[in-house]
Amino acid sequence: MKANIKPANGKLGILIPGLGAVATTLIAGVEAVKKGISQPIGSLTQMGSIRLGKRTENRHPKIKDFVPLADLNDIVFGGWDVYEDNVYEAAMNAKVLEASLLNEVREGLESIKPMKAAFDKNYAKNLDGTFVKTGTRYELAQQVMEDIKNFQTENGLDRVVLVWCGSTEIYYEASEIHQSVAAFEQALLDDDKRIAPSMIYAYAALKLGVPFANGAPNLTVDIPALVELSKETQTPIAGKDFKTGQTLMKTILAPGLAARSLGVHGWFSTNILGNRDGLVLDDPDNFKTKEVSKLGVLEDIFKPEDNPELYGEIFHKIRINYYPPHGDNKESWDNIDIFGWLGYKMQIKINFLCRDSILAAPIALDLALFCDFAKRANMSGVQEWLSFYLKSPQTAPGLPAENDIFKQLIKLENTLRYLMGEDLITHLGLDYYEEAYATA
Ligand SMILES: NC(=O)c1ccc[n+]([C@@H]2O[C@H](COP(=O)([O-])OP(=O)(O)OC[C@H]3O[C@@H](n4cnc5c(N)ncnc54)[C@H](O)[C@@H]3O)[C@@H](O)[C@H]2O)c1
Repeated sequence: MKANIKPANGKLGILIPGLGAVATTLIAGVEAVKKGISQPIGSLTQMGSIRLGKRTENRHPKIKDFVPLADLNDIVFGGWDVYEDNVYEAAMNAKVLEASLLNEVREGLESIKPMKAAFDKNYAKNLDGTFVKTGTRYELAQQVMEDIKNFQTENGLDRVVLVWCGSTEIYYEASEIHQSVAAFEQALLDDDKRIAPSMIYAYAALKLGVPFANGAPNLTVDIPALVELSKETQTPIAGKDFKTGQTLMKTILAPGLAARSLGVHGWFSTNILGNRDGLVLDDPDNFKTKEVSKLGVLEDIFKPEDNPELYGEIFHKIRINYYPPHGDNKESWDNIDIFGWLGYKMQIKINFLCRDSILAAPIALDLALFCDFAKRANMSGVQEWLSFYLKSPQTAPGLPAENDIFKQLIKLENTLRYLMGEDLITHLGLDYYEEAYATA
């Protein structure tokens, strides 16, 4: 495969619908790293290494040295928002990063001004921004395509990727207009309100062969029409919902409990957060989208249908409460009722004082870099190997998702090894002990 991967020559544009807390923390962070003031902690592409070959070979290169990824110095950011603030102002409002850090990269951030958003207030009622495009959904899609092409030309970019960091949209399910490209395009022309704004960006990107990753829990590219389009234009897609905070903890802890065959009666999760994301999620319709995305995780890891004695009765409850004093510094509590040998009960309590956007920004960066890599490696359609980063991974129709973070990491690493022509690692390890397995 290696010979077929195009090099990461020239500049990469990362275009972001939604220049809010996550996006501005990402952009400011990359600028700070480029200036040598900070480290890209939490980013597997920048900090992580990968084992190659046998353990005795001692080969552990950094992922960015192993795989041809775009260099941070070759990235140009842009985006859209329903508010007109430039990235410096938006970052100051988001209050994730300290003003002193933002001031060190101020110039670079001020120069990034949003483009007008493709927006429909019905999808995020708690937002009142007015910096929006006008026209039918078909016209909006054409305008977004023009934005992408202009951004590419004006910045002399070799390639572009889109990462949705916009607000969570209200809950919706796929209907008949989402089932094929033909039906979707007709619905665009009809200005059908069932096409969510995020789908307009995704359609525009895919039509141009631009990879699209979805950081929010709304369906967006997770509909047959856009999967079909991604195959047609040979474009990678990835979604959905950045795996941060409480769900990150769940997918770290739950596989451990399942591995030890410890039972779980109940898992109660509650959060308080006070950023704009929290404000949008305060609307029950928007919360429902998030809830659905978060709920599936435990079911997939514990598989109650296969293990009814251990997980058949699990009660899983999730709450998100908007609490402005905490800003982006989300606080979450988990109470986990577990049971062990002979059914004896135990409890685990987790109190995670996390910073949502600090955890999300490196994920957004890695998704952008890996989607660009996937495109250059001639991969298209759903990129399940990126499920490591996602709360509710998109898969092929009928294929159950893998939510165990450790299996997701193995999948990601083996995909990189496969694409780069290295041996896959099964962790069998018998070859270190027995002749018969020497070539296994
Ligand atoms: N922060 C996290 O840890 C985290 C984790 C997982 C998922 N997410 C998701 O990522 C998204 C962004 O989170 P955030 O904390 O940055 O939220 P935010 O509210 O700070 O930023 C979202 C931005 O999107 C803009 N927006 C909304 N609709 C838009 C549209 N149609 N076009 C362009 N811009 C639009 C809003 O005006 C806002 O500025 C949310 O959907 C959130 O649920 C965040």
